[in-house]
Amino acid sequence: MQISDNWPGYSLDLFTYPQHYYGDLEYVLIPHGIIVDRTERLAKDIMQDIGDNDIVVLCVLKGGYKFCADLVEHIKNLSRNSERFISMKVDFVRLKSYHNDQSMQDMQIMGGDDLSKLTGKVSSLCFLLILFFMFCKDIVGTGRTMKVLLNNIEKYKPKMIKVASLLVKRTSRPDGYRPDYYGFEIPDLFVVGYALDYNEHFRDLNHICVINDHGKAKYRV
Ligand code: HPA
Ligand code: MG
Repeated sequence: MQISDNWPGYSLDLFTYPQHYYGDLEYVLIPHGIIVDRTERLAKDIMQDIGDNDIVVLCVLKGGYKFCADLVEHIKNLSRNSERFISMKVDFVRLKSYHNDQSMQDMQIMGGDDLSKLTGKVSSLCFLLILFFMFCKDIVGTGRTMKVLLNNIEKYKPKMIKVASLLVKRTSRPDGYRPDYYGFEIPDLFVVGYALDYNEHFRDLNHICVINDHGKAKYRV
């Protein structure tokens, strides 16, 4: 789903959101309900590609936790209503890169230690799904983060590795790597909400919103 550069968004007055963020936001880019509905469709697309394989979900924290929780729930529901129950395991890694709204050069990968246990002896049977909340130039620009992550994972030899991202940020580089599944392609804006943060704030906002200058100044560190 494409959100164009001139999309004005929705007025904040149309929705509810936490009072402590009044005055800090510009507009709603994607309302919570649309995020959840789009995620349900991604779950359906993923289900079709899984075949008879077990699935191991590797969620990139912290921004991916809402997307991960909702996607796993949708896959579970779709699986319950179909003939075959899919076995699912979940693990987490953490990438940290942002200070204020600027990315720092070094992206660190932390966690994911249990991956060998999760993939275990049957790794060659499993469908490994890596979940990002956001695909932007830091992840794919130099390609370094993706490369390090994939190198870490490939040694477990899963049968299939697929990458899903809730958001893909449109940057000046149209040749960038694309995830196998993504929810929304968005303009090159700094967004918050639905687990995406600005210096750890706004994760408790349901909608994906654009932060205003007042909000940036208020929570700057
Ligand atoms: N919001 C929050 N975190 C991010 C973003 C963003 O737009 N881009 C990369 N990390
Ligand atoms: Mg962050």
